[in-house]
Amino acid sequence: MTSDADPFERAAALRVELDRQAYAYHVLDSPLVPDAEYDRLFRELQELERAHPECLAPDSPTQRVGAAPSTAFGSVVHRAPMLSLSNAFADDEVRAFDRRVREGLDIDAAAVDAIEYAVEPKFDGLAVSLTYVDGVLAIGATRGDGETGEDVTANLRTVQAVPLRIDAQRARLEVRGEVLMRKRDFARLNAEQRARGEREFVNPRNAAAGSLRQLDTRMTAARKLWFFAYGVVAEDEALPATRHSGLMDWLAGLRFPVTQERARVRGVEGLLDYYRAIGAQRAALPYDIDGVVYKVDELALQQRLGFVSRAPRFALAHKFPAEEALTELIDIEVQVGRTGALTPVARLKPVFVGGVTVTNATLHNEDEIRRKDVRIGDTVSVRRAGDVIPEVVGVVLARRPVDTVEFTMPARCPVCDSAVLRGEGEAISRCSGGLFCAAQRKQALLHFASRRAMDIEGLGEKLVDQLVDAGLVHTPADLYRLPLDALRALERMAEKSAGNVAAAIAASRHPTLARFLFALGIRNVGETTARDLARHYRSLGALMEADRESLQQVLDVGPVVATSIAGFFAEAHNREVIEALLAAGVVPQPLPALEDAGAASAAGIAGKTFVLTGTLPGLTRDEARASIEAAGGKVAGSVSKKTDYVVAGDEAGSKLDEARMLGLTIIDEAALRALLGTSRPAR
Ligand code: IVH
Repeated sequence: MTSDADPFERAAALRVELDRQAYAYHVLDSPLVPDAEYDRLFRELQELERAHPECLAPDSPTQRVGAAPSTAFGSVVHRAPMLSLSNAFADDEVRAFDRRVREGLDIDAAAVDAIEYAVEPKFDGLAVSLTYVDGVLAIGATRGDGETGEDVTANLRTVQAVPLRIDAQRARLEVRGEVLMRKRDFARLNAEQRARGEREFVNPRNAAAGSLRQLDTRMTAARKLWFFAYGVVAEDEALPATRHSGLMDWLAGLRFPVTQERARVRGVEGLLDYYRAIGAQRAALPYDIDGVVYKVDELALQQRLGFVSRAPRFALAHKFPAEEALTELIDIEVQVGRTGALTPVARLKPVFVGGVTVTNATLHNEDEIRRKDVRIGDTVSVRRAGDVIPEVVGVVLARRPVDTVEFTMPARCPVCDSAVLRGEGEAISRCSGGLFCAAQRKQALLHFASRRAMDIEGLGEKLVDQLVDAGLVHTPADLYRLPLDALRALERMAEKSAGNVAAAIAASRHPTLARFLFALGIRNVGETTARDLARHYRSLGALMEADRESLQQVLDVGPVVATSIAGFFAEAHNREVIEALLAAGVVPQPLPALEDAGAASAAGIAGKTFVLTGTLPGLTRDEARASIEAAGGKVAGSVSKKTDYVVAGDEAGSKLDEARMLGLTIIDEAALRALLGTSRPAR
């Protein structure tokens, strides 16, 4: 478009384009253009709006941050009260709920599967209401006491996942949902707080609440909040769906973030299956949840059921068990990790927390023990948070006995007796034994074989202990040279399982490059960085030759990470292990260029509806979704007759069963990649 074009039109076109790009970047996690291109268009719009203030619109992406700090929040009276949900903890309470629903609808008591439910995670954040007037975000409010909330419009505008404008032909639309902070952003925020010597947040919910209620919206903007929509307020205008699940699909189409984990199930058994399935996935989800929510799917039935006092009769929150409990700290032992880090671990009197019995909990490091003033003999509070490793949160000083014992970090490694070192300004003490230390060797091997790395089934802690202690395996490469007889000869190794392990090792020879990099256990290289590196360099050789400067071109790789990567590959020992792995027939597979898929609409994908279920070996759900959408396909949350493909990964749940029942086409990641591959333009 030329510069003498109508500034109104140009500004409008820029906004549409910037919104499209921002949605792909923030919500789909799949950028359409390089950041520089976004910035260029953004600046063009800013300049245009400066030169022609009459073009300025409140829904412009330039206006997400800008309001001056205020001194107090105004209040917003909710047009319909923001209610709460009835809670259940036990299966029986869920059964009673389903029974009440059926009774309330005069459904025959024998028809146990009569009700279809929409089921979702219960997000652990804070409820907000977003009101769009003529398609533009006009009011954003907290729940408050349910009747009146705080006007946090300016703060919510800074949340990139919240659309400022929607493409809906409606005078007014109120969307409700949850503002939260994703675990990754929370960890980053707390690391920053720590670095600045400021107070850390207890959990993502507190961090989200504190961030949303900042009077200076620039603070909110810096905190990276997220939003999930979970409801629409029915007003005068008819809703475009007759079911809750349909409303969620509609919202997703309007570019509201809607969770991928939502589903539709039948009857109380469907509810309980979902509860367990989500419970199992909980730790791996990128955000905290504190249970699941069940909603009668059909809106007409919801209306017939109505409300009791402050909660709907058609919905129920099924919560996960309490996550914090008190117990006695019997002793503090020191564990040696993969990188030699010494972690003090609390041995506890067994306590039931977060659904399991906990006997050990991490105390992180020496400074943490001092800060929390934890001593052997204390009564401590133990938390099993979103991640699976339980931790000691604090001490009940009122219950401290007189004879508690303070902890000191040993000066020599408890496993290999090498010196323990603690770098200046570092919190972590490390064993200096490197791979001489059997503990480090074992951890490195376990990491190498783990599910998200080389995925060698059956190579668990016990077997690794045996292999290392017997001197059969020193480096990962030794695994691939292990004679079957040596495996068979190990104690308690049945004939069949020796064969299975050997087969699993052999089958792991063609990992994706990303998994291979992750498996190497380079310090500071987690799964995401490994994937970014694989995408950037495309081959192991290219990465191994990269210098620190080049490495920092990769997304999210800063000087610290670049130094560990370059340092890792500079080490002769590491190069030898890699060469030995390659010589043993391990061949990392570069990722196909998924990001290119959008360049053409794939014949195999365009117009087709996909449902994703389970964990795919080499792609996150967001990546899979983004690639399918970029190629013109659609990703639906639940299986129906209209579904063209069900992409099933590990531990696929009820969606896979439904797909089988409906006789749908079920494909795996390889087949999905093949479909996407056909869409790539010839180069
Ligand atoms: S629906 C009538 N769905 O739970 C109430 N609420 O106790 C409609 N929450 O403060 C709420 N995840 O913020 C609903 N998927 C979900 C939810 C959810 C979290 C929160 C909500 C509210 C509380 C209700």
